[in-house]
Amino acid sequence: MKVLVCGGAGYIGSNMTELLARRGHKPVVLDNLSKGHQAAIKNAEFVQGDFGDFDFAVNVLKKYKIEAVMHFAAFIEVGESVDQPLRYYENNVSRTRTLLAAMEAAGVRKFVFSSTAAVYGMPEQIPITEDTPKSPINPYGETKWAVERMCHFQSQTGRLRYAALRYFNACGAGFNATLGEDHEPESHLIPLIIYTAMGKRDNIKIFGMDYPTPDGTCVRDYIHVEDLARAHLLALAKLDEKTELVYNLGNGKGYSVRQVIDCVRKVSGREFKVLEVARRAGDPPVLTADASKAKKELGWKTDYPELEKIVESAWKFHTANPKGYGSK
Ligand code: UFG
Repeated sequence: MKVLVCGGAGYIGSNMTELLARRGHKPVVLDNLSKGHQAAIKNAEFVQGDFGDFDFAVNVLKKYKIEAVMHFAAFIEVGESVDQPLRYYENNVSRTRTLLAAMEAAGVRKFVFSSTAAVYGMPEQIPITEDTPKSPINPYGETKWAVERMCHFQSQTGRLRYAALRYFNACGAGFNATLGEDHEPESHLIPLIIYTAMGKRDNIKIFGMDYPTPDGTCVRDYIHVEDLARAHLLALAKLDEKTELVYNLGNGKGYSVRQVIDCVRKVSGREFKVLEVARRAGDPPVLTADASKAKKELGWKTDYPELEKIVESAWKFHTANPKGYGSK
């Protein structure tokens, strides 16, 4: 299938592109390189540009005879979204609306959308199922939820079939650790701990030690990026039967910030400085997925259920690419 991967030069998008290529599909990456890295695109055609430019998007969809669109080109920083909500609404909602309009104009029906556990806000019930009330607590989560609703209503017209995939904590490096995380600035826990172990940072800060969790630090559900990518392929195939799909994607097992730090110590064999600081605003104590729906309906299985394997892949990527994609 010819699949347009918006944001295919980014972290999750590049893993998706590689998987599509290896499974015999024809991915076309559309990315403006504002965040992504051209070096992360290995086996795909690359078009540089904006997914939110209607005429341009229609042209790309037609020129490459695109049959499905996968969308990884959102802004993802929770803190930044609180400081600049309009920027998030513009990129994540308005421009995605334009992309959907371009798909409608070009007659492209299938859409796989990167959503997030942030749509649930501070859930009262753990693990989180797809039916857990949606109550985002920041503009980032709210913009993802807005797109899910937009897709829902557009699908009711019969002109869109879509899957909204709610990721928990994406991490690790895919394809023999060649495609990893390289954000600027980096805010995610695992790469930050690894940078500290590598000596690129002086310390790692634990945001909050007084959460109602076994060791007092926040618990998250870490899911390997290649496992995530495989769920997208399964969801895309399922869109032949169904018009509307929503799945949580996580391992269903939580690890605390402390446990992640200990795991990086073990994998790297290095000691480093850990500081205990105040809570970061807006962090729910525990976020773990009930992903049984994706397992049952899609036959999705995770190859990386253990944190140690996930961290090993990330460690391998970062040590092989100490300056990220700029290393090469
Ligand atoms: N943390 C630290 N120190 C750090 C960085 C993070 O203690 O230097 C903690 C956070 O407080 C949190 C955990 O590590 O408890 C994980 O933090 P991340 O920033 O790696 O990930 P989040 O759980 O905050 O966010 C992830 C995605 C977001 C998405 C969110 C959905 O990275 O894009 O899940 O809930 F919005």
